[in-house]
Amino acid sequence: MFWPRDCYGGVKLFLLDRARPGKKCLALSGLQRLSLGTYSVCALLMIAGAVRLGAPLFALEPAGKITLTVAGFGYQAAASLPGEGLSEFIRDTGIQVQFLPSWGNSADQLEVILRTLDRHFPAPDVYRIDVIWPGTLHQHLLDLGPYLHNDPRQHLPELLKNDTVAGRIVSLPFYLNAVMLFYRTDLLKKYGYRQPPKSWDELKKMAARIQRGERAAGHSSFWGYVWQGAAYEGLTCNALEWQASFGGGQIIDPDGTIHVNNPQTARAFRTAASWVGSISPPSVVSYTEPDSLNVFRSGNAAFMRYWSSGYRANKSASSKVREQFNVTQLPTGPGGRGQSVGGFQLAVSRYSAHPREAAELVQYLTSSKIEKSRAVQEGYLPTLTQLYSDAEVLKAVPEAAVFANTRREDWIARPSSIAAAKYSALSKNYYEAVHRILTGQSSPEKALDDLERELVDLKIQPAGR
Ligand code: GLC
Repeated sequence: MFWPRDCYGGVKLFLLDRARPGKKCLALSGLQRLSLGTYSVCALLMIAGAVRLGAPLFALEPAGKITLTVAGFGYQAAASLPGEGLSEFIRDTGIQVQFLPSWGNSADQLEVILRTLDRHFPAPDVYRIDVIWPGTLHQHLLDLGPYLHNDPRQHLPELLKNDTVAGRIVSLPFYLNAVMLFYRTDLLKKYGYRQPPKSWDELKKMAARIQRGERAAGHSSFWGYVWQGAAYEGLTCNALEWQASFGGGQIIDPDGTIHVNNPQTARAFRTAASWVGSISPPSVVSYTEPDSLNVFRSGNAAFMRYWSSGYRANKSASSKVREQFNVTQLPTGPGGRGQSVGGFQLAVSRYSAHPREAAELVQYLTSSKIEKSRAVQEGYLPTLTQLYSDAEVLKAVPEAAVFANTRREDWIARPSSIAAAKYSALSKNYYEAVHRILTGQSSPEKALDDLERELVDLKIQPAGR
């Protein structure tokens, strides 16, 4: 197959990683065509090729029949959507929906999405985007406002604010990911602890003691605390929680003032660095979400920092800790508590040939009916406020209680709305500096001094909301 290697090699690589040979087009009941595997790989290759060549489009359906292409869903998530209500949308509207698989991590996905949108390519029509991207992508996204018939203010106000850039609603909240501390109830009991740690100091002591005890009992691969320390967006979330809980600020204020180079932040990062190789594995500095989850679910850690989305994974049949864990808030530091909010939004490309239909799909997927069914069936935390008092939802997602019981001011949003298009650069500078500290390549003071200069050089003009 011809392939413009120079420009799109990265895309090809990520997608081929995910290719499932032999699954060209999977027919699922209700969803007329859910494209997966190589079929979708080809579709995206076609998009990329067409972009490069300036070819008009990618037409997979006969004229007259509308097919919306949706990007950013993982295989499982796409496969479960028909049962969560998408089939009804397809039946009622006659609109076909096909999915392109997601690829790589947050930053990889952003790069490919930006390349596609920068070229004003009409497909994909709908993107599932990280909570941090509306500010970066807003110029390429359709203002959903004029198309809405449900009141968007039913979504959590912080999320809706994040989706509104320069007065335009450029995406709608789809599900919430709230950070939590996962802990082993059996081990706390075994070591005589009545409750999970309240502060980082307490966490360190408890983790060290449990780790010592478990190792002495022959569990040589056991660790006290796992988290995400690789140099990527996930480390920005971890580090911002440390920084905020030590009273070091939240990177950049809404007025553009930068807060990183201060003794509280240095102390926060020195504390985290002291965990590496003591209560956390030396390899934690290359952990992303799946690495930490695997360690915890296989029974090899006492504590884990993870998103609410990990609750179901730890409850699943293959988890060794399914009956032996619970969740609570992250510990506090001398400056209080800071917990990141993550999650995903749905947005429509401004270049879609079917903006009305795409906006309708987004609105349908973010409606109370679908959010409730996704919460009950798959455990996704809703973004619609009213669902937090729905008994069926609360029973299905008990971890929602951690979100509901945490003070609003303890939730921290990454400064993506403030930095807008410069957020990726800001986050990269930040996680790279933190990573140098964690790996001992730099002292906290030197790394933070350099970081401050780099962030000032970005000349961030806070975006209007
Ligand atoms: C989770 C969050 C997302 C965040 C990412 C970082 O997927 O939902 O907002 O950017 O983790 O790794």
